[in-house]
Amino acid sequence: MKKIGDIILDVQNISLSFGGVKALTDISFNVKEHEIRAIIGPNGAGKSSMLNCINGVYVPQQGTISFKGQTFSHMNSRQVAEMGVARTFQNLALFKGMSVLDNIMTGRNLHIKSNLFTQAFRNPFGIWGLGGADREETRHREFVEHIIDFLEIQAHRKTPVGQLPYGLQKRVDLGRALAMQPQVLLLDEPMAGMNVEEKQDMCRFVLDVNDEFGMTVVLIEHDMGVVMDISDRVVVLDYGKKIGDGAPNEVRNNPEVIKAYLGTSH
Ligand SMILES: Nc1ncnc2c1ncn2[C@@H]1O[C@H](COP(=O)(O)OP(=O)(O)O)[C@@H](O)[C@H]1O
Ligand SMILES: [Mg+2]
Repeated sequence: MKKIGDIILDVQNISLSFGGVKALTDISFNVKEHEIRAIIGPNGAGKSSMLNCINGVYVPQQGTISFKGQTFSHMNSRQVAEMGVARTFQNLALFKGMSVLDNIMTGRNLHIKSNLFTQAFRNPFGIWGLGGADREETRHREFVEHIIDFLEIQAHRKTPVGQLPYGLQKRVDLGRALAMQPQVLLLDEPMAGMNVEEKQDMCRFVLDVNDEFGMTVVLIEHDMGVVMDISDRVVVLDYGKKIGDGAPNEVRNNPEVIKAYLGTSH
């Protein structure tokens, strides 16, 4: 049994609107260290908007977000990433023409210390050994190779991402996020559009990331079976409001949640 820790991410009274559209209304929930926390709800419920607030892409009009006890009303995406939060996207954000390896390598950017200046002078003493920038690049490549092994995509490491089946592209996007070595991983529908086998693989990777690396996972997912199977706690959104929050079983039997899902395809 994994051990669930203290609150690592605390969302307090977040409201967000776009012109007249209220995407989120007074949303509060927390995420505990090492848990898999699902966010579910019908299309347009505000799930992606919630992740965009957490990782600094959208600025909510109201509310605060605390990460490891530090409270912010707004951080930009870079700051959020530096604090240890990575995400994958509902619509993939990969460089289709670039190889799997190079795409995952972009996740290391945050950790690459050498700047352009040092790179211009890389390896000035080449005869005697590797310069600092080269040595650093080698370390990052090794790290990325480990991720490629972990995700079982060794055979595709040199393949341009655009040539891979969709399910594998989603896996590469996960690899890019893992390369950031985050403490909290935000996954926006990582299994959407996948066949049964691809879903099972992705489920296994999410569980492994959580189990083996102790990573905290916030997971938006439409497949209720998956959510009930792998999450520790579930938040339910509907029209930008929170209508349920609790263990999968509690949420499943919540009348308001049942009503929100009636007549929808989920
Ligand atoms: N950038 C945006 N501009 C305008 N409206 C947006 C934007 N992002 C989301 N919305 C609106 O906010 C609501 C919630 O959207 P979203 O967070 O994508 O829902 P979900 O991910 O649950 O399907 C929708 O009504 C959507 O149209
Ligand atoms: Mg969405």
